Amino acid sequence: MLNSPLSPSSTELVISILDMVLSEGKPLDRAYSVHFSGLQLAPSELARITKVTGDMLRRLNLYCFLSDVKPDEISRLGTRLMNAWHMFHGLELPKLEYSLPLSEAEYVTRLEEAKKQAALWDGCPQWLEDMGQAQLGDNWPKERAALTLPPKRFIRANTLKCTRDELGKKLRNEQVQTQIVEGVETALEVTSDAALFRTESFKKGWFEQQDAGSQLVASAVDAKPGMRVIDACAGAGGKTLSIAAQMQGKGRLLAMDVEQWKLDSLKQRARRANASNIETRLIASSKTIKRLKLSADRVLLDVPCSGLGVLKRNPDAKWRDTAERLPVLVELQKHILHSYSRMVKVGGILVYATCSIMPEENRDQIDAFLVENTHFRLLEDDTISVADSGFDGFYMARLERIAE
Ligand SMILES: C[S@@+](CC[C@H](N)C(=O)[O-])C[C@H]1O[C@@H](n2cnc3c(N)ncnc32)[C@H](O)[C@@H]1O
Repeated sequence: MLNSPLSPSSTELVISILDMVLSEGKPLDRAYSVHFSGLQLAPSELARITKVTGDMLRRLNLYCFLSDVKPDEISRLGTRLMNAWHMFHGLELPKLEYSLPLSEAEYVTRLEEAKKQAALWDGCPQWLEDMGQAQLGDNWPKERAALTLPPKRFIRANTLKCTRDELGKKLRNEQVQTQIVEGVETALEVTSDAALFRTESFKKGWFEQQDAGSQLVASAVDAKPGMRVIDACAGAGGKTLSIAAQMQGKGRLLAMDVEQWKLDSLKQRARRANASNIETRLIASSKTIKRLKLSADRVLLDVPCSGLGVLKRNPDAKWRDTAERLPVLVELQKHILHSYSRMVKVGGILVYATCSIMPEENRDQIDAFLVENTHFRLLEDDTISVADSGFDGFYMARLERIAE
């Protein structure tokens, strides 16, 4: 994880970021931007801070158990928690002016106890353990363990501007090391701690940061030049931009969402990427969807979901009300699938996707949909396992519309 302890000031920063996420409920990204804005930290120190904070959140209950600190005590007892983190990773303790002690003997007793509890060892809250066991059974422990690992950094070569090989060479000249990701045509894994977004390659729109699993979902759309394609839950356009590259700028790509600010951000990214065939449209009411009835060769529904496949990247979701929100999300997914599928023309393909690995949001939704919608047939589906792929976890199903 690290090969030397955090400095006292970086330790304080981690404690403050954790406190903002856990006590104030702020999203992790927001907590980073609040804490980092105006700071003159070297990119390598920023990387160390985000590595430690991410790991802390991935296994928070383990570190809390080892230090005998509760998540809501972090502002007061955070130094003790940080000491436990350093001991766990075999590092000297940070040289803080004031730090609550954690004796070696107490730590070792707790460590031995933790080793006997697999879910605790993997930093898994009880609600998630119950859900994983119920929905994934024997496959759950390996996914649970994989979700404790730091996320890899992947980028997608923007084939509207360059090939993947050209991008790899150009980045090497900019001191960024990458390697090819087997099985994902456009993906490179970034293997050095580089300030990616300061590179010329990024400024010129040669790549986007995008998980390799997300790239696989976008490629399941299989959009061809000249087609009419709708990305109906486009957000800020991670997958829309991938699809635009598949279409080589030819045909019509309509990106829709219920949040205008996300579509505005998509437009900016599209300009940088030279993706000229994207049109954005806010979904203001059900009429927006009805007007597009039977109009598209491809429709991607990358629906709102629990995010339980992307916990490596967004580990704060483990410590939020994700379980309580799930039934609401499942209903919304059902609604989007039933209503938005009307936009697919006969012979066209509907791709349903989530960044969850839980069948309730995935295959169960498709099975229920097919019972009531016999004018669709399932072509294939796949769950990208976090453990088997090393990517984020996703689900995708491809359905063909066979009649009106
Ligand atoms: C999983 S995110 C999409 C991520 C995006 N496709 C990407 O690759 O970056 C789901 C999106 O669905 C949007 N959304 C929520 N409710 C919706 C609805 N009823 N109709 C369409 N989009 C909706 C959210 O605003 C969010 O941007």
